[in-house]
Amino acid sequence: CGIVGYVGSDRSIEVLIGGLRRLEYRGYDSAGVAVIDAEGSLGTAKKSGKLQALVDELDAHPINNGTTGIGHTRWATHGGPTDQNAHPHLGDEGRLAVIHNGIIENFSELRDELLADGFSFRSETDTEVAAVLLGRDYADSGDLVEAFRRTVSRLEGAFTLLAVHKDQPGLVVGARRNSPLVIGLGEGENFLGSDVAAFVEYTRNAVAIGQDQIVAITADSVSVTGFDGNPVEAEPFEVAWDAAAAEKGGWPSFMKKEVSEQPEAVAKTILGRLHDGSVVIPELEAFGDTALQGIRRITVVACGTAAYAGLVAKYAIEKWARVPVEIELSHEFRYREPVLDDTTLVISISQSGETMDTLMAVKYARANGAKAISICNTQGSTIPRESDAVIYTHAGPEVAVASTKAFVAQITALYLFGLHLARVRGTLSAAELAVEAEQLQAVPDKIAEVLEQAEKVEQLARWMADTRSVLFLGRHVGFPIALEGALKLKELAYIHAEGFAAGELKHGPIALIEPGQPVFVVVPSPRGSAELHSKVVSNIQEIRARGARVIAIAEVGDAAVLPFADEVLRIPLAAPLYEPLLAVVPLQIFAMELATAKGLDVDQPRNLAKSVTVE
Ligand code: G6P
Repeated sequence: CGIVGYVGSDRSIEVLIGGLRRLEYRGYDSAGVAVIDAEGSLGTAKKSGKLQALVDELDAHPINNGTTGIGHTRWATHGGPTDQNAHPHLGDEGRLAVIHNGIIENFSELRDELLADGFSFRSETDTEVAAVLLGRDYADSGDLVEAFRRTVSRLEGAFTLLAVHKDQPGLVVGARRNSPLVIGLGEGENFLGSDVAAFVEYTRNAVAIGQDQIVAITADSVSVTGFDGNPVEAEPFEVAWDAAAAEKGGWPSFMKKEVSEQPEAVAKTILGRLHDGSVVIPELEAFGDTALQGIRRITVVACGTAAYAGLVAKYAIEKWARVPVEIELSHEFRYREPVLDDTTLVISISQSGETMDTLMAVKYARANGAKAISICNTQGSTIPRESDAVIYTHAGPEVAVASTKAFVAQITALYLFGLHLARVRGTLSAAELAVEAEQLQAVPDKIAEVLEQAEKVEQLARWMADTRSVLFLGRHVGFPIALEGALKLKELAYIHAEGFAAGELKHGPIALIEPGQPVFVVVPSPRGSAELHSKVVSNIQEIRARGARVIAIAEVGDAAVLPFADEVLRIPLAAPLYEPLLAVVPLQIFAMELATAKGLDVDQPRNLAKSVTVE
């Protein structure tokens, strides 16, 4: 869910709606606001559906545009996406409003306790339980901050909670446990947000809040304490990008803009980390070379597209640094008693830095003695704070739910890490490192070349708009790209799609091939490995013989695929490990254009949210 809080001048509605618009990628099942004016009147509005439904509601039935407010955009967990279940929820007989992200695990016990105490509920949500509980605590103390402290101390689970009370105009209180919340510092106004996108239009001065902390903001003050009430030191930081970076800027969709920004995303992630043909990641200095030399095993934890970035990097890191690398989906990792010790390095990959499954995997890993490095795109987010070190990807804000530029930036960061590790461990010579560094630096221009051929892919997608099922095959680093191509098509176009390792074809998936079945094949470069190349060409012949419609993604000049492919999409020449960064681009464009041809919203696909901050 997306959360925004504001105290300042009489323009709460515009600040809240603006913030929610930027946070809508966090969930778009329903949205709502609560606003208090200086006289202490509380207005609320909430609506199921996308944010625009709330905006229309506010146009039809305006509420006060006061000085103090909270806003929420929801990704439904407890209770369906109805008007009633939308946030805010009210307590203290309608005098206070609460918004919430996360899951309150002990909500049914608390609900029973409150029912027994004579309180009643209007919704099915755990949030209303928090609101009613806060109402009871407020009635006892008459102090919103104190009451809030008491309430959150009783909650179990993960949550970000914001509250306002009509008797305390000019004050927003917030708390976080395992769920994101950041402060924005303005002049005569202050902000709270799930991430900096909520307020970056007004200020780039931000403060990160730690675990189990409470924040109270007024127009000219900010105070942060622990759940125990003791003041804590908060960490200020400056947001590295401005509001314009998170604007659509004339593009038809955020996704289209972000796909086009991929050369920059890679270039900026490399920037400052290559010196005289050698990779040095300054962020790893604190981690120490000795620690890196002692690593015996790397486990990568991530979800979705980020996990596929990890799978690509496995091939590179093992080859360069000679350390075994395994990839595990974060939500599987924690529940299988993985073998961990201080020679295990856990690398988490997360664009948002907030994916709850990944956060919990990192915490678990560290609690069990492993070291943790995170690859992350979002400053001030939780996962980097919970890690021993962080390597930021500098892809800039990614707004479209389906990840694109963050993916290529993640692979880039992991490659930089692999080269850093190889240097520290002495597994690659200076000359070998220089060759890799040069290859990596050439990637942005090559991605730009792939983008120049977008029209051909777009046309193909339009022709195939009625397709019901698409298969993707790849081998070696092309395998994760096949998985990613299939994921993109599922996410955006709601088409059944599956990716396979091409070598696995004969062991089952070939049974799916019938005349007309479209199959994308990521063809490895014949210059990298003639053997691998010829095996994939054989795979193409096998499916072609059974009637498949083959769309090959192959390097410029590879003529071997021509007799068997119905379509060939070309990528520029690159060493094999760098091909995934190029081959993924046509697959992203294909999924995006096919979804567009079907009239779907590519930025906000159904049922999904960009940051899944619940387990
Ligand atoms: C969600 C998004 C995916 C993303 C995944 C991991 O499922 O819809 O696009 O790949 O989360 O997100 P993260 O922020 O951890 O990279």
